[in-house]
Amino acid sequence: MFAPAVLRQQELFKSEAVSLPILAEAKPFRSQLLKWVGNKQKHAGLIIRFFPKQFGTYFEPFLGSGGVLGVLAPKKAVASDAFAPLVQIWQTLHDDKEKLKQQYADRYELIVRLGKKAAYEKVLASYNNKPSGADLLFLCRSCYGGVVRFRKNDGYMSTPVGVHDPVSPESFGRRVDIWHARTQGARFLHLDFAEAMEQAKHGDLVYCDPPYADSQAILYGAQAFSLQRLFDSIADCKKRGVYVALSIDGTKFSGRKLCEIPIPDGLFKREEFVNIGRSMLKRFQMDGRNLEDHEVRDRLLLTF
Ligand SMILES: C[S@@+](CC[C@H](N)C(=O)[O-])C[C@H]1O[C@@H](n2cnc3c(N)ncnc32)[C@H](O)[C@@H]1O
Repeated sequence: MFAPAVLRQQELFKSEAVSLPILAEAKPFRSQLLKWVGNKQKHAGLIIRFFPKQFGTYFEPFLGSGGVLGVLAPKKAVASDAFAPLVQIWQTLHDDKEKLKQQYADRYELIVRLGKKAAYEKVLASYNNKPSGADLLFLCRSCYGGVVRFRKNDGYMSTPVGVHDPVSPESFGRRVDIWHARTQGARFLHLDFAEAMEQAKHGDLVYCDPPYADSQAILYGAQAFSLQRLFDSIADCKKRGVYVALSIDGTKFSGRKLCEIPIPDGLFKREEFVNIGRSMLKRFQMDGRNLEDHEVRDRLLLTF
């Protein structure tokens, strides 16, 4: 009963006219737009190396600070995240980059008038009163370690001000121009990963970089994240002939189990290691103490 349905599906894929216009080519660059825990920009080249040579639309459903999107700079992409204020930042970058520069400059100007700590606290109070992309932008650039941390029950942001000086509006403006150009092909959407992945078609590529199941529970607000649900979406994508690459914190693995969740048999074809250096979250929690034991090795699981 099962086999003929699978065969029919394979026939369907074969007969579909598939256009594969995007070449998996990394174009590395250094300037970051946002500071974000789990940012993958430095290691994006290593990740992109494992992408299919060609694919249709690029999907990044756990966008965060868009490390891989920026380095890949695809002609056509759907970039999404479940965290609404973050998506507002990306949409403003896309629709009106001068407005994004102004939003940052307006808040930076408070530092000149009030001093860094008072300026930060003012913007933080404004964000906690009514979360917005404009405030989040300044907060993520100026908070401690770039660790945007929330209270789980009500999304109240609690990170203190950072010890560093946030970048000047001139430097931020240059970053905006670079990122605007690199993300021209992307549509930025506020979506749960499952809804975003449903849109992917045969020959498209989905790169997933979900929150690390246990260590990032306090980050990024109170979005629901379930690895089991993600495996279901990946299985659906695979059935439709969509390529899926999944980054997972290698330290959470033991054998075929991931954080005590079994990886469905046969879902992935390959496993690759990507050494991503030290964890920013650990640095924050350990307050500068010895980091030697906290080298993070990401794994990349590939359905192709
Ligand atoms: C590890 S970060 C991604 C980091 C990204 N690769 C970068 O370079 O910055 C994970 C992201 O997943 C988002 N997220 C959490 N739960 C989600 C969900 N259910 N659907 C979509 N995005 C979600 C968080 O808001 C966060 O931005």
